[in-house]
Amino acid sequence: MHDSQRYAAMIIDKILGGTNFDVAFENVFTNVKEFQHKSQTKAITFGALRYMGQSKYLIECLVRNKIENRLIESLIHVALFQLSHESHSDFTIVDQAVKAAKKIDLRKGNFVNAVLRNFLRKKDTLTKGFLDQEESHFNYPIWWIQKVKKQYKSDWVDILNIGNDHPPMTIRVNKQQISVKDYKKLLVENDISFTPLINEGLILNNASNVKEIPGFDNGLLFVQDLGAQLASLLLDVKNNQSVLDACAAPGGKLTSILENANVHLTALEKNTYRVSKIIDNLKRLNLEATVIAKPLDNKNEWWNKKQFDRILLDVPCSASGIVRRHIDMKWLRRPNDLEKFANIQLDLLNNAWPLLKQQGKLLYVTCSIFKEENEEVISKFCDNRLDVKREKVKFPKNICHIKNQLVPSKNHDGLYYEILEKK
Ligand SMILES: C[S@@+](CC[C@H](N)C(=O)[O-])C[C@H]1O[C@@H](n2cnc3c(N)ncnc32)[C@H](O)[C@@H]1O
Repeated sequence: MHDSQRYAAMIIDKILGGTNFDVAFENVFTNVKEFQHKSQTKAITFGALRYMGQSKYLIECLVRNKIENRLIESLIHVALFQLSHESHSDFTIVDQAVKAAKKIDLRKGNFVNAVLRNFLRKKDTLTKGFLDQEESHFNYPIWWIQKVKKQYKSDWVDILNIGNDHPPMTIRVNKQQISVKDYKKLLVENDISFTPLINEGLILNNASNVKEIPGFDNGLLFVQDLGAQLASLLLDVKNNQSVLDACAAPGGKLTSILENANVHLTALEKNTYRVSKIIDNLKRLNLEATVIAKPLDNKNEWWNKKQFDRILLDVPCSASGIVRRHIDMKWLRRPNDLEKFANIQLDLLNNAWPLLKQQGKLLYVTCSIFKEENEEVISKFCDNRLDVKREKVKFPKNICHIKNQLVPSKNHDGLYYEILEKK
């Protein structure tokens, strides 16, 4: 276990330094030969990140001075999570953590041992203290809690709690390959229990490895949250229209559009590594689009001056609405990131707008619950612009939302949708 604890600590150390989980994980495991540690490392890293509000509080109570070595501090976060939430014996967790500490720095074994044993002695009293502070109670940084509280006066507790839950495993049936009815039959034949949602959406009640879902390799399905599945519906595409997906990778929404209508789709993506994910997904689902590895802003390099009937603009954002799937975001994001994202989002809108035909529609999407990236960006864009009309977004029944904002719920994430029509 000590190697997985140490790898988890290395990943958390990188996240605390500003690297996201996926990159940190790849980074740690490119230099590691023992791949069998991967799933255990992932599980304890996610657990430690999920409960880091608690372990931060415990470290403040247990350690008088700031811990200078962030890798050792990260290891303590991991071990405190395990001692509070995992079923291994206390002795094993502490013993292994001390071994891990010694591998990081021989002199730090005694320190880690002392902190963890001190925690075990005072566990009952200390864990009662979780409720006294919002950061340890909700397991989010305080700025995040305050923002959600201010922006969602009656739903803030539920929103914070949902963000700490395990996400549902939701799939979209590829109607081009199989009917929803037949796919449900296939799941029943394979003894896989599911909950039908709306349209092509189903939740698999027991999450599994995607490769083990029937028909995955043959493109019968795509793993995608229900909230994201709504994009193709709201974009209101008709057969033969020209559609631009201006921020396309990995292609979840674009493939959903192609499954729903026979359109000419151009997919733009500025990150060349992520372009390969679009191509893989199109190939697996047996769908076609013109994929261009260019940024939206460099129009001269890719645009033939023919305006589009529909534009999907699914912009980069804080990911605050999908935090249960990206737990690292809670500790990676900083309050001033929202302003940076808002500037990028407004820029993307300004760049996409001239590419839209008159009477055409642009669907603006974020997976954020924060107004700064949603309503405020849209208001700024629409102010003083005479050729834009905000269309009312009509969500299907049973979708939990406040105006254009999907409120994260058991069945879907917290996305924001805005439909802009060109007058
Ligand atoms: C939220 S993700 C899109 C998710 C995608 N629509 C889906 O449903 O799978 C945003 C994407 O926009 C890309 N991006 C950011 N700035 C861009 C730009 N100026 N031009 C094109 N793509 C950009 C990012 O690399 C990222 O892959």
